[in-house]
Amino acid sequence: MENKDIVISVSILSSNFKNLEKEITSLNFSGIDEFHLDVMDGHFVDNISFGLPIIKCVKSLTNLPIETHMMVDDPYEFIESFTKAKVNTFTFHIESKSNIKDTIYLLKEKKISIGLALNPDTPISAIEPYINDIDRVLFMTVYPGQGGQSYIMSVNDKIDEFTKKYSNSNILIGVDGGIKLDTIKNSFLSGARMFVSGTGILNSNLGYLGVVKELRKTILR
Ligand code: DX5
Ligand code: ZN
Repeated sequence: MENKDIVISVSILSSNFKNLEKEITSLNFSGIDEFHLDVMDGHFVDNISFGLPIIKCVKSLTNLPIETHMMVDDPYEFIESFTKAKVNTFTFHIESKSNIKDTIYLLKEKKISIGLALNPDTPISAIEPYINDIDRVLFMTVYPGQGGQSYIMSVNDKIDEFTKKYSNSNILIGVDGGIKLDTIKNSFLSGARMFVSGTGILNSNLGYLGVVKELRKTILR
């Protein structure tokens, strides 16, 4: 296992929006692999976060790939405009109201990488019919809706089960929520290879560069 097989992604939800340009610039040099942009519509989850203007802004400030995590009722409706904004991965929830097959079909047509997210209480059987059509699965390790929550340990069993069952597939297994220095190793051992961290990076007293380095070390230690 080498570090290049690990994807560290930062969720900017809890970043300093008073100076977003400075934040993105610092994160560009922190050693992260990807930006994770949490889109919330106030329906699928209670909060409303941001949409296209902020996504375009981040895109203009980085060359790193961008994943949009769609915590919205109807992700299908966003595909056209998000594709134009050149997001790299469009991750939507199996619990959303869009027709899953149609959403996957349109994303394939747009040649955009496809992620399917599932909430802590959703069994892996819900996403199994789509496994061969997606690029990554995003296990929510908190209930979606806000940053800074605690990692739900029991999700590790679900990741374990998935990893064993699909060990021959190329699917990227991601985790999102509560990823910090004390939780990352266990999700790695369960099979996760993509780690989304918000406050774990943004609020760390090691600084962005220091904490990203430490997260990587902790995985391989
Ligand atoms: C939760 C979001 C996460 C969140 C991660 O609804 O999907 O991406 O911002 O933040 P932390 O790492 O602080 O739990
Ligand atoms: Zn997220």
